[in-house]
Amino acid sequence: MPVRHSTPKWFSRVQLHLGNIRCSPFIKGIAMTSHAERFATSQWTAGIIGLGYVGLPLAVAASRKGLGVIGFDLSAPLTAALMEGRSHVGDVSDSELGRALDDGAVFTADAARLAEADAIFICVPSPLGRNRQPDLSFIESAAETVATVVRPGQLISLESTTYPGSTEDILVPAVEKAGLTVDVDVFVAFSPERVSPGDQLKTADIPKVVGGVSALSGEVAAAAYGRLVPSVHLVSSARAAEMAKLLENTYRAVNIGLINEMAQLAHELDIDIWEVVDAAATKPFGFQAFYPGPGVGGHCIPLDPQYLAWRAREANFTTRFIDTAEQVNSHMPGYVASRVVDILNDRGLPVFGTEILAVGIAYKPDVADDRESASLHVIDELKARGAKVSVFDPLVGADRIRRHDLVPVDEGDDLSRFTMAVVLTDHRVIDYDKIAAQVGVVFDTRGMYRRIGSTAANVHHL
Ligand SMILES: NC(=O)c1ccc[n+]([C@@H]2O[C@H](COP(=O)([O-])OP(=O)(O)OC[C@H]3O[C@@H](n4cnc5c(N)ncnc54)[C@H](O)[C@@H]3O)[C@@H](O)[C@H]2O)c1
Repeated sequence: MPVRHSTPKWFSRVQLHLGNIRCSPFIKGIAMTSHAERFATSQWTAGIIGLGYVGLPLAVAASRKGLGVIGFDLSAPLTAALMEGRSHVGDVSDSELGRALDDGAVFTADAARLAEADAIFICVPSPLGRNRQPDLSFIESAAETVATVVRPGQLISLESTTYPGSTEDILVPAVEKAGLTVDVDVFVAFSPERVSPGDQLKTADIPKVVGGVSALSGEVAAAAYGRLVPSVHLVSSARAAEMAKLLENTYRAVNIGLINEMAQLAHELDIDIWEVVDAAATKPFGFQAFYPGPGVGGHCIPLDPQYLAWRAREANFTTRFIDTAEQVNSHMPGYVASRVVDILNDRGLPVFGTEILAVGIAYKPDVADDRESASLHVIDELKARGAKVSVFDPLVGADRIRRHDLVPVDEGDDLSRFTMAVVLTDHRVIDYDKIAAQVGVVFDTRGMYRRIGSTAANVHHL
């Protein structure tokens, strides 16, 4: 029997609504307490744990909003580089970092400095373990750090993607271990990060979902985030906010799985999938275009649905959509490799010993990040079939390509020695016409040649 929650009586007692904060209907009408008001109106300092793709942009955004910033990372070389104004995150330029430093931002490997912060935002990794189960060790270690520095009046907000219940299960015990009580001394919340590296929209442009481990914690967190982002959507619990993030990325994974399956079907039926998607996308409602590709990559889409699936299994629940999307998407690199074999075969060529140029190993266009990239799986599949694969990715760069034990190709290199090129990531900076002109045959898994209006006869499409 499903449990229904009724609105507690105290929700109707209060009227005041916070400026840019929208509440889910369940919690509308909330009043701003003095704790929330402090974060909404006074000067305060943001402490950030983990200064990677999420933490550093957040630190710079907080500084730009006039807040104090203390960024903490376990990596001392990283914090030293940041103090020298050298950013390692593509979306944060050295000049933006320099402005934050000029305004007093501090980056340190000394966790004790976090005690000076009024709010601590945790932005550490949340990968999968060896058996594809959630690896919460980074969040747990950050929680241990919090336990050593937390003081009355602080807000602790977890931003790392994780399964519903993590904030309550890990952060609340951490503050209690320090002898403090949630809602009396400190406030604990979850607010997922939605930044998309390489995208035009930056941290400070993207609305935030916020949920506290209690109503008061949620309200305080919403007031704090209201200083950082254009709008805050406050939900009734940390668990709802945790699940909202997983829904967002599961929605992407499932829809990418759907279109990847459609791409294979369209090929069987001799129909152009890109033309089909473009046609369907003219419908002004009820359809959102997703595009096929060599699989899913990055540190979110392949991982996050597995957090939800794992939590579901704990509750004896089977997530059929997640499982199916995972099957289809993880099959794509093998499918792409088999299409390469077919294209060569049609020309009377073997894959074994053939020189193939893989174009792009970043997991998505216009970023230098190759973590969990589907391109790497395609390359493995081609090598397993005996192909000699070299890689061109001007953003990821030769050093990193070599670290994968792969041969890099430079911008000015003559490409005519390659029998075939396979476009795996559609970086805009690449000269695709040059590739089609110099390489005998091209297989485009990203629809890039269509987008640039190329009619080159030697280009095959996924
Ligand atoms: N990168 C994205 O596009 C993105 C988008 C949305 C959400 N997320 C989520 O945000 C979280 C962070 O991801 P990221 O991409 O920024 O990771 P990252 O690997 O780029 O950076 C994490 C940083 O945390 C540091 N760190 C690890 N453990 C620490 C600890 N205990 N104390 C202090 N520092 C520690 C690491 O040294 C590293 O610098 C993850 O949960 C991820 O799923 C990422």
